Amino acid sequence: MTDIDRILEIKKEMGDDLLILAHHYQSNDIIKTADFVGDSLKLAQYAQQNKKAKYIVFCGVYFMSETADILTEDRQIVLQPATIAGCPMADMADSDQAEKAWEIITRELGCDIVPITYVNSKAEIKAFCGRRGGTTVTSGNAGKVVEWGLKQNKVILFLPDQNLGRNTAYDLGVPLEHMALYDPKTECLKYSCGKKDVKIVLWNGFCHVHHKITLKHIEAARKAHPDAKIIVHPECQFEIAQAADGKGSTEYIINCVKNGEKGSKWIVGTEYNLVKRLKDTYTDKSVYILDTSSVCTNMNRTNGENLLETLLDIQKGNFEKQVTVNKDIAKDALISLETMLSLA
Ligand code: 13P
Ligand code: SF4
Repeated sequence: MTDIDRILEIKKEMGDDLLILAHHYQSNDIIKTADFVGDSLKLAQYAQQNKKAKYIVFCGVYFMSETADILTEDRQIVLQPATIAGCPMADMADSDQAEKAWEIITRELGCDIVPITYVNSKAEIKAFCGRRGGTTVTSGNAGKVVEWGLKQNKVILFLPDQNLGRNTAYDLGVPLEHMALYDPKTECLKYSCGKKDVKIVLWNGFCHVHHKITLKHIEAARKAHPDAKIIVHPECQFEIAQAADGKGSTEYIINCVKNGEKGSKWIVGTEYNLVKRLKDTYTDKSVYILDTSSVCTNMNRTNGENLLETLLDIQKGNFEKQVTVNKDIAKDALISLETMLSLA
């Protein structure tokens, strides 16, 4: 019997006590075992709505499991099969750096700030935003949430993904010259407009998987498939997002291909597992990956073996893989997540 068959058997035995959640970037094996598959927004909403499961096994990366722990009830236990699966972008901002940035930006620009963090961030950054009247954002609701921030007539501090921040603010009419960049390593704030014209301060963070897609990939793809549409995730750099035919969350990307006409061609700039699954699922369309090296190592750390181990551990009452967020941090992080969920 394979690990996956055994997992499916245990799922039957445990019934509603067990909920397996998987992000779209997980491998096919893991997707087969999941009760719900989604982008980070849908997974957060699903985790919050489920009141039945005693054990929520999160097949994704650490910030997603933390978010599930914050949004679920205390009696519900969140576990992550690959305990070391983190997100390098989330690790690019911690709360000490954010406090320092706040001080520097306030001093330099002499303005009020509203902090908005991508959910791909540590719980302590979400808590920082909650404490300071800010919120979280996902790629699926970035437009609505940044628009909410702009309406407050304060300068937005957007962290940790500069690309999602820049792409979203630009779409909402903020010119590039009115965006500043803050580097937490050098503690330096750079901007080319007058102080009063800065609308958003972008944190110098990025997702290496998407950030390394270049215009060369776009040029090569257009040459190879001139009649295909190029769609990318908004974690891609500004020039890539502009050169593509469309951009959006994993959910947006899936819907483009799913609802595309029979025979249509799609070149997709995001994680390999998702693009491969789209190609295998929608065989009446042609799907290509924009950059073949778009692999998120951390998302791929979850496999049949460690998922099975997690379920067997639960049955033995061993919760070594449990993800828990400190109560004080969780309380403030919840404020920022709930603000987002009320806006989305
Ligand atoms: P989504 O918000 O589109 O699910 O993306 C999460 C992620 O980690 C993308 O790199
Ligand atoms: Fe983090 Fe990028 Fe992996 Fe998403 S794809 S989990 S942002 S490293």
